[in-house]
Amino acid sequence: MPDVQVFDDADQLFAAARDRFVAACERAIAERGRFRVALSGGSTPRGLYERLAAGAFGARSAGVWSKVDIFWGDERHVPPDHAESNYRLAHETFLSKIEIPPENVYRWEAEGPDAAAVAAAYEDTLRRVFVVAKPDVPRFDLVLLGLGPDGHTASLFPGTAAIDEVHRLAVSNRVDKLDTDRLTLTPPMLNFARQILFLVRDADKAEALAQVLGGPYRPHELPAQCVRPESGDVTWLIDRAAAGHLG
Ligand code: 6PG
Repeated sequence: MPDVQVFDDADQLFAAARDRFVAACERAIAERGRFRVALSGGSTPRGLYERLAAGAFGARSAGVWSKVDIFWGDERHVPPDHAESNYRLAHETFLSKIEIPPENVYRWEAEGPDAAAVAAAYEDTLRRVFVVAKPDVPRFDLVLLGLGPDGHTASLFPGTAAIDEVHRLAVSNRVDKLDTDRLTLTPPMLNFARQILFLVRDADKAEALAQVLGGPYRPHELPAQCVRPESGDVTWLIDRAAAGHLG
């Protein structure tokens, strides 16, 4: 069973998330000289990003951020300045406020008209930065994920093709109910991470969360159930409202 921690309020949840991010970062740098993290999309991570921007590493910040490589677990097929851009949220609340070299920030170039080409380019970037050739899979130190009310995570939505992807690292994924092509890391890429941290808030996620954690394994209906790392740790940081249907 994954590690599930319930917090009374958002402040406590995001403080715990910040502490885990910092710990994972310092451990990776100590062990391998770099910290490679995939940020999540949606709105939930804002509270974490704001805390990371507020001097999470104190006077050591510049030295730490120079050793951090930032990626995204998924992205919308929109330009980086679009209101729905996952990159934009992280840039505005976090990355623009810390001393991180721009070359350490690897966004999906989602302004590209061909979503499949955008995903292929991101996969090439992942392999180049991690220095990992096919068929091996690059290994993130930390992957941040959220959960949708329908049980999706990253841009692995119920009934979509990317759920079954076993070879690619990054794909475009047609999401008919949103009438869009989303860009997402695949289960193999997510599941090779050393550590996965889900941040889940609010009552509208409670039923999906209870099903994902305690229901039968049905990843096509509950894609968050695809996230079962071979050897990495999965931790769920949730608030009391999202925990409402847990036994
Ligand atoms: C996205 C996300 C998605 C998100 C969940 C939760 O691009 O939308 O990656 O998987 O994490 O939909 O979104 P909220 O945090 O906005 O509830």
